[in-house]
Amino acid sequence: MSAHIIDGKAHAAALRAELKIQAAALSAKGLQPGLAVVIVGDDPASRTYVRNKVRACEEAGVYSETHQLPADTPESGVLARVRELNSNPRIHGVLVQLPLPAHINEPRVLAEVLPQKDVDGFHVHSAGALFVGAPHFVPCTPAGIIYLLEKESISIAGRHAVVIGRSNIVGKPIALLLLQRDATITICHSRTTDLGVHTRSADILVAAVGRLNFVTADMVKPGACVIDVGTNRAPDGKLCGDVDYETVKSVAGSITPVPGGVGPMTVAMLVANTLRAADHRTQD
Ligand code: GUN
Repeated sequence: MSAHIIDGKAHAAALRAELKIQAAALSAKGLQPGLAVVIVGDDPASRTYVRNKVRACEEAGVYSETHQLPADTPESGVLARVRELNSNPRIHGVLVQLPLPAHINEPRVLAEVLPQKDVDGFHVHSAGALFVGAPHFVPCTPAGIIYLLEKESISIAGRHAVVIGRSNIVGKPIALLLLQRDATITICHSRTTDLGVHTRSADILVAAVGRLNFVTADMVKPGACVIDVGTNRAPDGKLCGDVDYETVKSVAGSITPVPGGVGPMTVAMLVANTLRAADHRTQD
């Protein structure tokens, strides 16, 4: 049997249509939501991600600005730009595209973003709020995964969720969000021994490794829900995930494709977080 394909593109389109209505309502109150994206250097993948984010904002009626800084911008210059955006009333969300060039201290820059404008959810304030179970802004990719699981009525409570990857952007926050929903969690990473023993017991398997075709069919429990967070380029230039999709889809119960799975949800969640940030302003 072949797995049910979770259509992230369709879910994201439906969500974005709802968000567009909410953005119009905020704009009608004189509070058009605004997002600023800071990108340092000219990494082509980052530029593509930023373009997608800005386009999604425009389509939803969210004002957006892209601040493209040269790769050799000193850290002080990036910090100064973030501070300017923090105090700009037109801007409700500030996002610093990662990775930053090696000479810049990433945690220091992320800590400069005002927590009320932290639509990426990367500030320690947001991370801490998630840790104690009172989420403030949730990072967009993990928020998108939870959205998909809930929309697809995939039960979480009491299930074993295995996350491969321990990044601050995906691995750790998705594990916390699943834990909050009463899953039993295992976090695997590059030093995990006997990875397959863990993954084969997963009811929900989240792959956030960054390696093409890393998860093979023999690592998946029959009927499991497989969430592929990978965005890798195959030798032929095609965008592929961390999961060997063609073989795993005959074992899994449900699976997200790449492209068209988690990726579009990440962008939709950024729009959602920007609207929330603007909406909070109405309560000031
Ligand atoms: N780089 C890769 N993913 C992300 C993301 O979700 N947000 C930002 N700011 N940078 C990223």
